[in-house]
Amino acid sequence: MDTKPAEMMARRKFLKLVTTLPALAATAALVSPLLRFLKPNVEKFKIYAPTVQDAARGEVIAVATLREVANPWDYKYFVFTQKYPQYTPEGFKAANVPGVVIKLPYKITLYDPATGQGPWRWARDIGKTPKVTESDLIVFSRICPHLGCIYNFVPNYKEVTAGYGGYLPPPPRQHALMACPCHLSIYDPADPQLPGRVLSGPAPRPPRTFLYEIQGENIIATDVEPGGIA
Ligand code: FES
Repeated sequence: MDTKPAEMMARRKFLKLVTTLPALAATAALVSPLLRFLKPNVEKFKIYAPTVQDAARGEVIAVATLREVANPWDYKYFVFTQKYPQYTPEGFKAANVPGVVIKLPYKITLYDPATGQGPWRWARDIGKTPKVTESDLIVFSRICPHLGCIYNFVPNYKEVTAGYGGYLPPPPRQHALMACPCHLSIYDPADPQLPGRVLSGPAPRPPRTFLYEIQGENIIATDVEPGGIA
């Protein structure tokens, strides 16, 4: 039997395969990146979601001593340095967050360990469990949630009425308040349900809070509530 035609057929098949493979490989290389757009390998909206590692980190500092804020409505201003992972040549971008420590006339719940609720409910988002859960000390950022001005702690509510647009708080709130000179937002630092509640003005929510711990005589701010201005 003549085997030549069979050999030629096999050789042709082989040559066809050899010439087709690179073409297939080139097509696959070209098309595969396009297929990723049709079926992304990252969950929707997870691409830009911040992780705990991406969270801004603050410099842990003593913001006041217990003696400095011993009596109701004592307060102390401080500045907290927050570092954001911006991947600049230096690695981090720092921002100063002015804050205020306030002694309230009564204790309020800052964090309910059973439900995770309270002004410090955001602590879980940054992987922290607050050590203080109930206290008459509260620490706010002084950045106004409206447009980012620095608001004031005003010990006498009458000064708020006189100097911040005539707002007269109703009787249970006739005590020290926080007031912003830019567009006259007024906040109640001692509202038991929502400390920093907006009483008047355009602010959309209370100012952000700081997590703190008590170490000996010192009130130590460890983290500021994450997020933008408004
Ligand atoms: S920035 Fe404070 S009220 Fe507008």
